[in-house]
Amino acid sequence: MSSLFSNLDDKKKFALLGLAGVSVVAVGTYAYLQRSKEKRETSATHQEDDWEKPFNLSVDQMKQMIKDFQSEMDKGLQSTTSSSMKMLTSFTSKPTGKEKGSYYALDLGGTNFRVIKLELQGNKVIGASVKQQYTISQEAMRGTAEQLFGFIADCINNFISTEKPSSSKFVLGFTFSFPVNQTKISSGTLISWTKGFTTKGVEGNDVVKLLNNEFQKRRISAEVAALANDTVGTMVARCYEDDTCEMGLILGTGTNACYSEKVSNIKKLLGGFNKDNMIINMEWGAFGDGTNFLPLTKADKQLDQFSLNPGKQLFEKMISGMYLGEIVRQILLDLVDRNRLSKGFSSSELLKKAYCFETSFITLTENDNSSELTEVQKLLEERLAIVSTVKERQLLKHICHVVSQRAARLSAAAVVAVLSKINRLQKVTVAVDGGVFEHLPGFREEMERFMKLLAPSSSIQLVLQKDGSGNGAAIIAATTQN
Ligand code: GLC
Repeated sequence: MSSLFSNLDDKKKFALLGLAGVSVVAVGTYAYLQRSKEKRETSATHQEDDWEKPFNLSVDQMKQMIKDFQSEMDKGLQSTTSSSMKMLTSFTSKPTGKEKGSYYALDLGGTNFRVIKLELQGNKVIGASVKQQYTISQEAMRGTAEQLFGFIADCINNFISTEKPSSSKFVLGFTFSFPVNQTKISSGTLISWTKGFTTKGVEGNDVVKLLNNEFQKRRISAEVAALANDTVGTMVARCYEDDTCEMGLILGTGTNACYSEKVSNIKKLLGGFNKDNMIINMEWGAFGDGTNFLPLTKADKQLDQFSLNPGKQLFEKMISGMYLGEIVRQILLDLVDRNRLSKGFSSSELLKKAYCFETSFITLTENDNSSELTEVQKLLEERLAIVSTVKERQLLKHICHVVSQRAARLSAAAVVAVLSKINRLQKVTVAVDGGVFEHLPGFREEMERFMKLLAPSSSIQLVLQKDGSGNGAAIIAATTQN
Protein backbone atom coordinates (compact mmCIF):
# COMPACT_ATOMS: atom_id res chain seq x y z
CA MET A 1 0.00 0.00 0.00
CA SER A 2 2.73 2.46 0.89
CA SER A 3 4.64 1.86 -2.30
CA LEU A 4 1.53 2.73 -4.21
CA PHE A 5 1.71 6.26 -2.94
CA SER A 6 5.35 6.67 -2.21
CA ASN A 7 5.75 9.25 -4.93
CA LEU A 8 2.95 11.46 -3.77
CA ASP A 9 4.37 14.14 -1.53
CA ASP A 10 1.89 16.30 0.21
CA LYS A 11 3.36 19.55 -1.02
CA LYS A 12 1.43 21.96 1.06
CA LYS A 13 2.24 20.13 4.26
CA PHE A 14 5.83 19.96 3.17
CA ALA A 15 6.00 23.73 2.99
CA LEU A 16 4.29 24.16 6.31
CA LEU A 17 6.56 21.62 7.92
CA GLY A 18 9.53 23.64 6.88
CA LEU A 19 8.19 26.48 9.00
CA ALA A 20 7.36 24.38 12.00
CA GLY A 21 9.49 25.31 14.93
CA VAL A 22 11.00 22.96 17.42
CA SER A 23 9.22 22.63 20.67
CA VAL A 24 8.52 20.17 23.35
CA VAL A 25 4.86 19.39 23.57
CA ALA A 26 2.68 19.73 26.53
CA VAL A 27 1.61 16.15 26.10
CA GLY A 28 1.42 15.88 29.86
CA THR A 29 -2.05 17.32 29.57
CA TYR A 30 -3.23 14.16 27.85
CA ALA A 31 -4.46 12.75 31.11
CA TYR A 32 -7.59 11.62 29.34
CA LEU A 33 -5.65 8.74 27.81
CA GLN A 34 -6.87 6.39 30.45
CA ARG A 35 -10.50 7.39 30.61
CA SER A 36 -13.28 4.94 29.83
CA LYS A 37 -15.10 4.83 26.50
CA GLU A 38 -18.38 5.81 28.09
CA LYS A 39 -16.82 8.83 29.66
CA ARG A 40 -15.42 9.88 26.31
CA GLU A 41 -18.85 9.98 24.77
CA THR A 42 -20.79 11.64 27.51
CA SER A 43 -18.50 13.67 29.72
CA ALA A 44 -18.55 17.36 29.13
CA THR A 45 -15.80 17.90 31.65
CA HIS A 46 -12.82 15.98 30.37
CA GLN A 47 -10.10 17.84 28.53
CA GLU A 48 -10.41 17.00 24.90
CA ASP A 49 -7.73 18.36 22.61
CA ASP A 50 -8.88 20.35 19.60
CA TRP A 51 -7.83 17.73 17.03
CA GLU A 52 -9.83 15.08 18.82
CA LYS A 53 -13.26 16.58 19.30
CA PRO A 54 -14.57 16.16 15.73
CA PHE A 55 -13.45 12.53 15.74
CA ASN A 56 -15.53 11.55 18.75
CA LEU A 57 -18.83 10.93 17.00
CA SER A 58 -21.85 10.95 19.28
CA VAL A 59 -24.91 8.72 19.18
CA ASP A 60 -27.00 11.72 18.11
CA GLN A 61 -24.68 12.52 15.23
CA MET A 62 -24.85 8.91 14.11
CA LYS A 63 -28.65 8.88 14.38
CA GLN A 64 -28.77 11.83 12.01
CA MET A 65 -26.36 10.06 9.69
CA ILE A 66 -28.65 7.02 9.64
CA LYS A 67 -31.51 9.22 8.39
CA ASP A 68 -29.37 10.73 5.64
CA PHE A 69 -28.02 7.31 4.75
CA GLN A 70 -31.48 5.83 4.39
CA SER A 71 -32.68 8.69 2.27
CA GLU A 72 -29.66 8.19 -0.04
CA MET A 73 -30.52 4.47 -0.23
CA ASP A 74 -34.05 5.36 -1.32
CA LYS A 75 -32.86 7.79 -3.95
CA GLY A 76 -30.32 5.29 -5.27
CA LEU A 77 -33.04 2.68 -5.76
CA GLN A 78 -35.16 5.16 -7.73
CA SER A 79 -32.66 6.32 -10.32
CA THR A 80 -29.06 5.87 -11.35
CA THR A 81 -27.95 9.44 -10.82
CA SER A 82 -29.69 11.00 -7.85
CA SER A 83 -27.78 9.51 -4.90
CA SER A 84 -24.19 9.48 -3.71
CA MET A 85 -24.61 5.68 -3.33
CA LYS A 86 -25.01 3.87 -6.63
CA MET A 87 -27.13 1.01 -5.22
CA LEU A 88 -26.12 -1.28 -8.07
CA THR A 89 -28.25 -4.21 -9.23
CA SER A 90 -26.39 -7.55 -9.04
CA PHE A 91 -28.92 -9.85 -10.74
CA THR A 92 -28.08 -12.26 -7.95
CA SER A 93 -30.18 -13.50 -5.08
CA LYS A 94 -29.52 -15.77 -2.12
CA PRO A 95 -28.46 -19.32 -3.01
CA THR A 96 -30.54 -22.28 -1.83
CA GLY A 97 -27.64 -24.22 -0.32
CA LYS A 98 -28.39 -27.09 -2.68
CA GLU A 99 -25.98 -25.98 -5.41
CA LYS A 100 -23.55 -28.80 -6.01
CA GLY A 101 -20.34 -29.50 -7.88
CA SER A 102 -16.95 -28.09 -8.60
CA TYR A 103 -16.71 -24.41 -9.52
CA TYR A 104 -13.97 -21.87 -10.05
CA ALA A 105 -13.59 -18.24 -9.10
CA LEU A 106 -11.29 -15.34 -9.85
CA ASP A 107 -11.03 -12.71 -7.16
CA LEU A 108 -9.71 -9.25 -8.07
CA GLY A 109 -10.11 -6.51 -5.53
CA GLY A 110 -6.83 -5.08 -4.35
CA THR A 111 -3.17 -5.69 -4.80
CA ASN A 112 -3.68 -9.46 -4.65
CA PHE A 113 -5.46 -11.63 -7.12
CA ARG A 114 -6.69 -15.12 -6.33
CA VAL A 115 -7.82 -18.15 -8.27
CA ILE A 116 -10.04 -20.59 -6.41
CA LYS A 117 -11.51 -24.03 -7.01
CA LEU A 118 -14.38 -24.84 -4.71
CA GLU A 119 -16.32 -28.00 -4.05
CA LEU A 120 -19.98 -27.52 -3.11
CA GLN A 121 -21.58 -30.50 -1.41
CA GLY A 122 -25.17 -29.46 -2.06
CA ASN A 123 -26.33 -29.73 1.54
CA LYS A 124 -25.38 -26.24 2.73
CA VAL A 125 -21.81 -27.41 3.15
CA ILE A 126 -18.83 -25.90 1.38
CA GLY A 127 -16.29 -28.65 0.81
CA ALA A 128 -12.63 -28.60 -0.11
CA SER A 129 -11.05 -25.68 -1.86
CA VAL A 130 -7.78 -25.02 -3.65
CA LYS A 131 -6.48 -21.47 -3.76
CA GLN A 132 -3.60 -19.71 -5.37
CA GLN A 133 -2.65 -16.10 -4.75
CA TYR A 134 -0.80 -13.80 -7.14
CA THR A 135 0.45 -10.24 -6.66
CA ILE A 136 -0.69 -7.61 -9.13
CA SER A 137 2.17 -5.49 -10.33
CA GLN A 138 2.07 -1.71 -10.31
CA GLU A 139 2.24 -1.85 -14.13
CA ALA A 140 -0.95 -3.90 -14.27
CA MET A 141 -2.73 -1.62 -11.75
CA ARG A 142 -1.75 1.48 -13.63
CA GLY A 143 -1.10 0.22 -17.16
CA THR A 144 -3.46 -0.97 -19.89
CA ALA A 145 -6.50 -3.25 -19.86
CA GLU A 146 -4.55 -5.77 -21.88
CA GLN A 147 -1.81 -5.88 -19.23
CA LEU A 148 -4.28 -6.32 -16.37
CA PHE A 149 -6.61 -8.87 -17.95
CA GLY A 150 -3.71 -10.61 -19.68
CA PHE A 151 -2.09 -11.04 -16.28
CA ILE A 152 -5.31 -12.53 -14.89
CA ALA A 153 -5.58 -14.94 -17.82
CA ASP A 154 -1.94 -15.99 -17.34
CA CYS A 155 -2.66 -16.71 -13.67
CA ILE A 156 -5.55 -18.98 -14.65
CA ASN A 157 -3.38 -20.77 -17.14
CA ASN A 158 -0.86 -21.34 -14.40
CA PHE A 159 -3.57 -22.56 -12.00
CA ILE A 160 -5.19 -25.01 -14.40
CA SER A 161 -1.84 -26.42 -15.42
CA THR A 162 -1.59 -27.78 -11.86
CA GLU A 163 -5.35 -28.29 -11.22
CA LYS A 164 -6.88 -30.32 -13.99
CA PRO A 165 -10.49 -29.12 -14.41
CA SER A 166 -13.04 -31.95 -14.45
CA SER A 167 -14.39 -30.95 -17.87
CA SER A 168 -12.71 -29.28 -20.84
CA LYS A 169 -14.69 -26.05 -20.36
CA PHE A 170 -14.90 -24.83 -16.82
CA VAL A 171 -17.45 -22.51 -15.26
CA LEU A 172 -16.26 -19.63 -13.17
CA GLY A 173 -17.42 -16.70 -11.13
CA PHE A 174 -15.49 -13.44 -11.36
CA THR A 175 -15.29 -11.28 -8.26
CA PHE A 176 -14.48 -7.79 -9.43
CA SER A 177 -14.51 -5.48 -6.43
CA PHE A 178 -15.21 -2.17 -8.08
CA PRO A 179 -18.41 -0.33 -9.06
CA VAL A 180 -19.89 -2.05 -12.06
CA ASN A 181 -23.14 -1.43 -13.95
CA GLN A 182 -24.84 -4.77 -14.46
CA THR A 183 -27.90 -5.50 -16.55
CA LYS A 184 -27.37 -9.25 -16.29
CA ILE A 185 -25.45 -11.63 -14.09
CA SER A 186 -22.66 -12.47 -16.51
CA SER A 187 -21.45 -9.05 -17.64
CA GLY A 188 -20.93 -5.52 -16.39
CA THR A 189 -19.34 -2.20 -17.22
CA LEU A 190 -16.82 -0.58 -14.89
CA ILE A 191 -18.17 2.81 -13.79
CA SER A 192 -14.98 4.14 -12.22
CA TRP A 193 -11.88 2.72 -10.57
CA THR A 194 -11.43 2.97 -6.80
CA LYS A 195 -8.67 1.92 -4.35
CA GLY A 196 -5.72 3.20 -6.36
CA PHE A 197 -6.36 1.38 -9.65
CA THR A 198 -6.05 3.55 -12.75
CA THR A 199 -5.68 0.91 -15.51
CA LYS A 200 -6.55 2.53 -18.83
CA GLY A 201 -9.24 1.28 -21.21
CA VAL A 202 -11.42 -0.38 -18.56
CA GLU A 203 -13.78 2.36 -17.35
CA GLY A 204 -16.90 2.29 -19.50
CA ASN A 205 -16.11 -1.20 -20.81
CA ASP A 206 -17.46 -4.66 -20.06
CA VAL A 207 -14.90 -6.33 -17.82
CA VAL A 208 -16.09 -9.84 -18.72
CA LYS A 209 -15.52 -9.10 -22.39
CA LEU A 210 -12.03 -7.80 -21.64
CA LEU A 211 -11.29 -11.00 -19.76
CA ASN A 212 -12.77 -13.24 -22.46
CA ASN A 213 -10.56 -11.53 -25.08
CA GLU A 214 -7.48 -12.53 -23.13
CA PHE A 215 -8.84 -16.07 -22.62
CA GLN A 216 -9.32 -16.41 -26.36
CA LYS A 217 -5.81 -15.22 -27.14
CA ARG A 218 -4.51 -17.96 -24.86
CA ARG A 219 -7.05 -20.59 -25.97
CA ILE A 220 -8.39 -20.94 -22.43
CA SER A 221 -11.80 -22.51 -22.59
CA ALA A 222 -13.57 -20.95 -19.62
CA GLU A 223 -17.06 -19.54 -19.25
CA VAL A 224 -17.53 -16.54 -16.96
CA ALA A 225 -21.00 -17.44 -15.70
CA ALA A 226 -21.22 -14.73 -13.05
CA LEU A 227 -19.72 -11.36 -12.25
CA ALA A 228 -19.93 -10.29 -8.60
CA ASN A 229 -18.80 -7.57 -6.26
CA ASP A 230 -16.79 -8.78 -3.20
CA THR A 231 -19.60 -7.73 -0.85
CA VAL A 232 -22.05 -9.88 -2.83
CA GLY A 233 -19.63 -12.82 -2.84
CA THR A 234 -19.14 -12.52 0.91
CA MET A 235 -22.87 -12.42 1.57
CA VAL A 236 -23.64 -15.32 -0.76
CA ALA A 237 -20.90 -17.47 0.78
CA ARG A 238 -22.53 -17.01 4.19
CA CYS A 239 -26.06 -17.46 2.85
CA TYR A 240 -25.10 -20.87 1.40
CA GLU A 241 -24.90 -22.20 4.96
CA ASP A 242 -26.90 -19.66 6.97
CA ASP A 243 -30.46 -18.50 6.20
CA THR A 244 -30.28 -15.55 8.59
CA CYS A 245 -27.67 -13.65 6.58
CA GLU A 246 -29.10 -10.46 5.04
CA MET A 247 -26.02 -8.39 4.49
CA GLY A 248 -22.44 -8.59 3.24
CA LEU A 249 -19.82 -6.13 4.43
CA ILE A 250 -16.22 -5.47 3.47
CA LEU A 251 -13.99 -3.56 5.87
CA GLY A 252 -10.61 -3.96 4.22
CA THR A 253 -8.54 -1.91 1.78
CA GLY A 254 -11.89 -0.40 0.76
CA THR A 255 -15.30 -0.52 2.38
CA ASN A 256 -18.69 -1.38 0.92
CA ALA A 257 -21.81 -3.40 1.69
CA CYS A 258 -24.66 -5.24 0.01
CA TYR A 259 -28.02 -6.49 1.19
CA SER A 260 -31.08 -8.31 -0.07
CA GLU A 261 -33.77 -5.91 -1.35
CA LYS A 262 -37.33 -6.55 -2.57
CA VAL A 263 -37.34 -6.33 -6.36
CA SER A 264 -40.54 -4.26 -6.17
CA ASN A 265 -38.53 -1.53 -4.37
CA ILE A 266 -35.89 -1.30 -7.09
CA LYS A 267 -37.70 1.23 -9.25
CA LYS A 268 -34.78 1.82 -11.58
CA LEU A 269 -34.43 -1.88 -12.47
CA LEU A 270 -33.79 -2.47 -16.16
CA GLY A 271 -34.18 -5.97 -17.51
CA GLY A 272 -36.23 -8.70 -15.96
CA PHE A 273 -35.45 -10.69 -12.86
CA ASN A 274 -37.54 -13.65 -11.91
CA LYS A 275 -37.05 -13.67 -8.14
CA ASP A 276 -38.68 -11.56 -5.41
CA ASN A 277 -35.40 -10.31 -3.96
CA MET A 278 -32.16 -9.12 -5.46
CA ILE A 279 -28.87 -8.36 -3.77
CA ILE A 280 -27.95 -4.69 -4.08
CA ASN A 281 -24.30 -3.66 -4.18
CA MET A 282 -24.60 -0.33 -2.40
CA GLU A 283 -21.14 1.12 -3.12
CA TRP A 284 -21.45 2.79 0.25
CA GLY A 285 -17.84 4.01 0.13
CA ALA A 286 -19.23 6.93 -1.88
CA PHE A 287 -21.85 7.85 0.73
CA GLY A 288 -21.82 11.60 1.25
CA ASP A 289 -19.88 12.52 -1.92
CA GLY A 290 -21.10 15.92 -3.09
CA THR A 291 -23.19 16.52 0.07
CA ASN A 292 -22.47 17.77 3.56
CA PHE A 293 -23.72 14.64 5.36
CA LEU A 294 -20.33 13.57 6.64
CA PRO A 295 -18.61 15.14 9.66
CA LEU A 296 -15.31 15.60 7.85
CA THR A 297 -12.36 16.75 9.94
CA LYS A 298 -9.39 18.83 8.83
CA ALA A 299 -7.40 15.58 8.49
CA ASP A 300 -10.07 14.02 6.23
CA LYS A 301 -10.13 17.09 4.03
CA GLN A 302 -6.34 17.13 3.71
CA LEU A 303 -6.28 13.43 2.86
CA ASP A 304 -9.00 13.85 0.26
CA GLN A 305 -7.41 16.87 -1.36
CA PHE A 306 -4.17 15.02 -2.03
CA SER A 307 -5.73 11.69 -2.97
CA LEU A 308 -5.94 10.14 -6.44
CA ASN A 309 -9.71 10.75 -6.50
CA PRO A 310 -10.51 14.05 -4.68
CA GLY A 311 -14.15 14.45 -3.67
CA LYS A 312 -14.84 10.75 -4.25
CA GLN A 313 -15.31 7.81 -1.86
CA LEU A 314 -15.40 10.13 1.17
CA PHE A 315 -17.04 7.58 3.50
CA GLU A 316 -14.49 4.96 2.44
CA LYS A 317 -11.69 7.43 3.17
CA MET A 318 -12.88 7.72 6.79
CA ILE A 319 -13.12 3.96 7.34
CA SER A 320 -11.00 1.70 5.20
CA GLY A 321 -7.53 0.26 5.51
CA MET A 322 -6.18 2.13 2.56
CA TYR A 323 -6.66 5.42 4.41
CA LEU A 324 -6.72 5.02 8.21
CA GLY A 325 -2.94 5.25 8.59
CA GLU A 326 -2.90 8.36 6.43
CA ILE A 327 -5.50 10.01 8.66
CA VAL A 328 -3.21 9.38 11.64
CA ARG A 329 -0.32 10.93 9.70
CA GLN A 330 -2.44 13.98 8.85
CA ILE A 331 -3.21 14.48 12.55
CA LEU A 332 0.49 14.16 13.39
CA LEU A 333 1.38 16.73 10.73
CA ASP A 334 -1.20 19.10 12.15
CA LEU A 335 0.25 18.70 15.65
CA VAL A 336 3.73 19.33 14.22
CA ASP A 337 2.43 22.47 12.51
CA ARG A 338 1.12 23.73 15.81
CA ASN A 339 4.39 22.99 17.62
CA ARG A 340 2.77 20.25 19.66
CA LEU A 341 5.32 17.55 18.91
CA SER A 342 9.05 17.58 19.47
CA LYS A 343 11.93 17.72 17.04
CA GLY A 344 11.85 13.95 16.60
CA PHE A 345 8.62 14.37 14.63
CA SER A 346 9.11 17.81 13.12
CA SER A 347 12.49 16.93 11.63
CA SER A 348 11.46 13.58 10.16
CA GLU A 349 11.69 13.73 6.37
CA LEU A 350 9.99 10.34 6.11
CA LEU A 351 6.87 11.55 7.91
CA LYS A 352 6.36 14.02 5.06
CA LYS A 353 5.73 11.19 2.63
CA ALA A 354 2.05 10.58 2.03
CA TYR A 355 0.84 7.15 3.19
CA CYS A 356 4.12 6.39 5.02
CA PHE A 357 2.16 5.70 8.21
CA GLU A 358 0.56 2.43 7.16
CA THR A 359 -2.68 1.15 8.63
CA SER A 360 -0.79 -1.90 9.91
CA PHE A 361 1.14 0.54 12.15
CA ILE A 362 -2.16 1.34 13.89
CA THR A 363 -2.59 -2.35 14.70
CA LEU A 364 0.96 -2.59 16.01
CA THR A 365 0.63 0.60 18.05
CA GLU A 366 -2.67 -0.37 19.61
CA ASN A 367 -1.36 -3.83 20.44
CA ASP A 368 1.69 -2.52 22.29
CA ASN A 369 0.81 -2.73 25.97
CA SER A 370 4.32 -2.24 27.36
CA SER A 371 4.67 0.67 29.78
CA GLU A 372 7.15 2.53 27.56
CA LEU A 373 5.54 1.43 24.28
CA THR A 374 8.82 -0.07 23.13
CA GLU A 375 7.40 -1.67 19.97
CA VAL A 376 6.03 1.70 18.89
CA GLN A 377 9.37 3.30 19.69
CA LYS A 378 11.12 0.77 17.45
CA LEU A 379 8.58 1.25 14.68
CA LEU A 380 8.93 5.03 14.74
CA GLU A 381 12.71 4.83 14.67
CA GLU A 382 13.06 2.11 12.07
CA ARG A 383 10.30 3.06 9.65
CA LEU A 384 10.07 6.85 10.07
CA ALA A 385 13.41 7.82 11.65
CA ILE A 386 11.55 9.46 14.54
CA VAL A 387 13.03 9.61 18.02
CA SER A 388 10.11 9.97 20.42
CA THR A 389 9.31 10.42 24.09
CA VAL A 390 7.06 8.02 26.01
CA LYS A 391 4.38 10.70 26.22
CA GLU A 392 4.45 11.23 22.47
CA ARG A 393 4.07 7.50 21.96
CA GLN A 394 1.11 7.48 24.33
CA LEU A 395 -0.39 10.31 22.37
CA LEU A 396 0.20 8.43 19.11
CA LYS A 397 -1.48 5.36 20.58
CA HIS A 398 -4.43 7.49 21.56
CA ILE A 399 -4.66 9.01 18.07
CA CYS A 400 -4.64 5.53 16.51
CA HIS A 401 -7.39 4.47 18.90
CA VAL A 402 -9.59 7.48 18.18
CA VAL A 403 -9.21 7.14 14.40
CA SER A 404 -9.99 3.42 14.49
CA GLN A 405 -12.96 3.83 16.82
CA ARG A 406 -14.46 6.53 14.64
CA ALA A 407 -14.29 4.14 11.68
CA ALA A 408 -16.04 1.48 13.79
CA ARG A 409 -18.82 3.89 14.76
CA LEU A 410 -19.42 5.00 11.19
CA SER A 411 -19.55 1.35 10.09
CA ALA A 412 -21.94 0.50 12.94
CA ALA A 413 -24.28 3.34 12.02
CA ALA A 414 -24.31 2.32 8.36
CA VAL A 415 -25.11 -1.32 9.23
CA VAL A 416 -27.96 -0.20 11.49
CA ALA A 417 -29.21 2.11 8.72
CA VAL A 418 -29.41 -0.77 6.24
CA LEU A 419 -30.91 -3.35 8.57
CA SER A 420 -33.51 -1.01 10.03
CA LYS A 421 -34.47 0.06 6.50
CA ILE A 422 -35.30 -3.55 5.61
CA ASN A 423 -36.78 -4.24 9.02
CA ARG A 424 -34.27 -6.92 9.92
CA LEU A 425 -32.64 -5.74 13.13
CA GLN A 426 -33.38 -8.96 15.03
CA LYS A 427 -31.68 -12.33 14.75
CA VAL A 428 -29.80 -11.33 11.69
CA THR A 429 -26.32 -12.14 10.47
CA VAL A 430 -23.95 -9.84 8.63
CA ALA A 431 -21.10 -11.57 6.78
CA VAL A 432 -17.96 -9.47 7.13
CA ASP A 433 -14.51 -9.73 5.62
CA GLY A 434 -11.45 -7.50 5.52
CA GLY A 435 -8.36 -6.67 7.52
CA VAL A 436 -9.79 -3.62 9.28
CA PHE A 437 -12.50 -5.75 10.86
CA GLU A 438 -10.25 -8.71 11.44
CA HIS A 439 -7.10 -7.08 12.72
CA LEU A 440 -7.71 -3.63 14.21
CA PRO A 441 -7.78 -4.11 17.99
CA GLY A 442 -11.19 -3.36 19.48
CA PHE A 443 -12.78 -2.52 16.12
CA ARG A 444 -15.41 -5.26 16.17
CA GLU A 445 -16.19 -4.58 19.86
CA GLU A 446 -16.72 -0.87 19.22
CA MET A 447 -18.93 -1.65 16.24
CA GLU A 448 -21.03 -4.02 18.35
CA ARG A 449 -21.23 -1.57 21.24
CA PHE A 450 -22.31 1.26 18.98
CA MET A 451 -24.89 -0.82 17.11
CA LYS A 452 -26.50 -1.54 20.49
CA LEU A 453 -26.46 2.15 21.42
CA LEU A 454 -28.12 3.02 18.12
CA ALA A 455 -30.64 0.16 18.11
CA PRO A 456 -30.98 -1.16 21.68
CA SER A 457 -33.38 -3.98 20.84
CA SER A 458 -31.33 -5.28 17.92
CA SER A 459 -29.56 -8.63 17.81
CA ILE A 460 -27.09 -8.34 14.95
CA GLN A 461 -24.39 -10.93 14.61
CA LEU A 462 -21.24 -9.93 12.77
CA VAL A 463 -19.49 -13.04 11.47
CA LEU A 464 -16.08 -13.11 9.86
CA GLN A 465 -16.52 -14.75 6.47
CA LYS A 466 -12.91 -15.44 5.52
CA ASP A 467 -12.34 -15.71 1.77
CA GLY A 468 -16.06 -15.15 1.24
CA SER A 469 -15.61 -12.89 -1.78
CA GLY A 470 -14.05 -15.60 -3.95
CA ASN A 471 -16.02 -18.54 -2.56
CA GLY A 472 -19.26 -16.63 -3.05
CA ALA A 473 -18.48 -15.98 -6.73
CA ALA A 474 -18.02 -19.72 -7.27
CA ILE A 475 -21.39 -20.31 -5.58
CA ILE A 476 -23.07 -17.66 -7.73
CA ALA A 477 -21.60 -19.36 -10.82
CA ALA A 478 -23.15 -22.59 -9.53
CA THR A 479 -26.58 -20.94 -9.20
CA THR A 480 -26.54 -20.19 -12.94
CA GLN A 481 -26.14 -23.88 -13.85
CA ASN A 482 -29.58 -25.02 -12.66
C1 GLC B 1 -14.38 -0.12 -3.10
C2 GLC B 1 -15.08 -0.61 -4.36
C3 GLC B 1 -16.21 -1.58 -4.02
C4 GLC B 1 -15.67 -2.69 -3.14
C5 GLC B 1 -14.99 -2.10 -1.91
C6 GLC B 1 -14.41 -3.17 -0.99
O1 GLC B 1 -15.25 0.65 -2.35
O2 GLC B 1 -15.60 0.51 -5.08
O3 GLC B 1 -16.78 -2.12 -5.18
O4 GLC B 1 -16.72 -3.53 -2.77
O5 GLC B 1 -13.96 -1.24 -2.32
O6 GLC B 1 -13.44 -3.92 -1.63
